[in-house]
Parts: sequence; structure tokens; C-alpha cells
Amino acid sequence: MKKVLTLVALMALSACSGQQADTSAEPVNISSLGKSEITDIRAADAMPTYPSRGKAIERDFVHQPPLIPHKADYPITLKKNGCMTCHAPAKAQRMKATEIHDSHLLADTKLNDHYYNCNQCHVPQADNKTQLVDNSFNQ
Ligand code: HEC
Ligand code: HEC
Repeated sequence: MKKVLTLVALMALSACSGQQADTSAEPVNISSLGKSEITDIRAADAMPTYPSRGKAIERDFVHQPPLIPHKADYPITLKKNGCMTCHAPAKAQRMKATEIHDSHLLADTKLNDHYYNCNQCHVPQADNKTQLVDNSFNQ
């Protein structure tokens, strides 16, 4: 025990001495990054173009989670599910959107929490880029 205490005391002492300012050090010359000129400016990415308003995208196979034909950054938080503003059964007709699938609902027509995070299965599809990876699925 005594040995351990001495060791701790020694370590504390050496830590203190390390804190003393080194007055002999040369000043460091730092040049600001703000002065450098930006010469290469990349063109902005193309804006996404979604299918014409109100149109669904054709499905490729049965029971496929349909692709989202519009932007999909509506907030999905603990308090609010932005997708349900239009796709909840009670609102869908008025918003001219498809009701969520029956499988997403509990018997009392409440949204089943297993389906709360819509973007886990549904992804938006926009026409904005050249094809990055060739895809022969379903051809
Ligand atoms: C402002 C209203 C509105 C909001 C909010 C909204 N949608 Fe839509 N959604 C539509 C409309 C209108 C359509 C096109 C008509 C249709 O196919 O339902 C559509 C289509 C879809 C489709 C395709 C349905 C099909 O049968 O092909 C999916 C999937 C979808 N939305 C998911 C979502 C998700 C996920 C969110 C949240 C991130 C969301 N929507 C938020 C209005 C909305
Ligand atoms: C676990 C995956 C999953 C989650 C999470 C999910 N969906 Fe779906 N959704 C599906 C599948 C799969 C289908 C297709 C069902 C079928 O055709 O059998 C579907 C179908 C739909 C449809 C079309 C319904 C129809 O009758 O054609 C809409 C609209 C939709 N979902 C909206 C949503 C919204 C909004 C949310 C979030 C509240 C959501 N989904 C969460 C998998 C999911």
C-alpha cells in the first residue's frame, strides 16, 4: 500500500512540474487558411426531379414497398410522423394520396409501431443523376 501511495505522489509531482510554462519556446507561425484562394469550384448537383405530382411509380413485383414519388424529408420523430399527415386512412382521400397498406395498421386502425419508420422500407425515387451502377433487375 505504501509503495502505491508513493508512486501516486511521485506521479502527481511530475504532472505539476509539466504544467510550468516553457518560456524559451519560439513563437509558432500560423498562417490563416482564410487567405488561401479557392480555385476549383465544383458545379452544383442536379436538383432531383420527381414524377409528375400525384403520380405513383409502377411496382416491379408483388408486395414491393412502393417507391416514394415525392421528396421524403418529412419529419418522422417520436411525437409526429410527417408521412401520416397525408397517408393516414382518415386523411388520404382529402390529400389525394394512397392510404397506408392494411398491413401497417393494428385492428383498431391505429398505425402499428413496427411500421412507424416509413423510410426503412420506402425510398424516394427521383430522376436526377446519370445511372451510377448498371442494374438488370427484372429485365
Ligand atoms: C403532402 C402530402 C404527402 C406527404 C406529407 C407524404 N406523401 Fe407520400 N404521397 C403523396 C401523394 C399525393 C402521392 C401520390 C399518389 C399516391 O400514389 O399515393 C404519394 C405517394 C406515396 C407513395 C407511393 C404509393 C403507391 O401506391 O405507389 C409512397 C410509398 C409514399 N407516398 C410514402 C410517403 C412517405 C414514406 C412519406 C413520409 C416521408 C410521405 N409519403 C409523405 C402525398 C404525401
Ligand atoms: C416494414 C416495412 C414497411 C414500413 C416500415 C412501412 N411500409 Fe408501407 N408498405 C410496405 C410494403 C411491403 C407495402 C406493399 C404491401 C403489399 O402490396 O402487399 C407497403 C405499401 C404502402 C403503401 C401503398 C398501399 C396500397 O394500398 O397500395 C403506402 C401508401 C405506404 N406503404 C405508406 C407507408 C407509410 C406512410 C409508412 C410509415 C407510416 C410505411 N408505409 C411504413 C412496407 C412498409
